[in-house]
Amino acid sequence: MTEHLTVVNHPLVQHKLTLMREKDTSTASFRQLLKEISLLLAYEITSELPMTTQKIETPLCEMDAPVIEGKKLALISILRAGNGLLDGILELIPAARVGFVGLYRDHETLQPVEYYFKVPQNLEDRTVIVVDPMLATGNSSAAAIDMIKKAGAKDIRFMCLLAAPEGVARMKEAHPDVPIVTASLDEKLNELGYIVPGLGDAGDRMFGTK
Ligand code: URA
Repeated sequence: MTEHLTVVNHPLVQHKLTLMREKDTSTASFRQLLKEISLLLAYEITSELPMTTQKIETPLCEMDAPVIEGKKLALISILRAGNGLLDGILELIPAARVGFVGLYRDHETLQPVEYYFKVPQNLEDRTVIVVDPMLATGNSSAAAIDMIKKAGAKDIRFMCLLAAPEGVARMKEAHPDVPIVTASLDEKLNELGYIVPGLGDAGDRMFGTK
């Protein structure tokens, strides 16, 4: 992908996102909508995967049919909210390998703290899609991508539901080689590090916690 930031302005994405932002949307609906949007974002983020052809036989004839080129995909979820995006993409790409990075945000410093890291082998040979719904300060995402690069990944894309300008700037500074696909570039972060207008705490809303 050539653009550093791609906002998917598709009507279905925007309509579903509005339903997700609404504060009275139930946990079940929130989860379902996130899954549906993740399919649409995954469609966009995979739109430039390199293609090749493979000889197949239809009932009528032989043909050189298009298939995605050899490089295998790895999906890496930033816990815990990343798992909401992961479910949808896995429906679209069931053969992808999956990894998890556990980082929580210290509510005082807003800095990421690592507690889990498990990723597929041979990351250097894979296209890696890192998923986290909320690109807020960008500190957690940038730290997660540091770790994923140290584990060997070279071709990385980042998919989120909402991005704040501060998070996009942080990612551009730390990882200019990592394109970002999002459903919306929101206005700002508030003093607590929440995206405004946003949708609140994505993890709490998807898992029904507080
Ligand atoms: N994480 C969230 O879940 N929501 C925000 O608004 C910012 C970070």
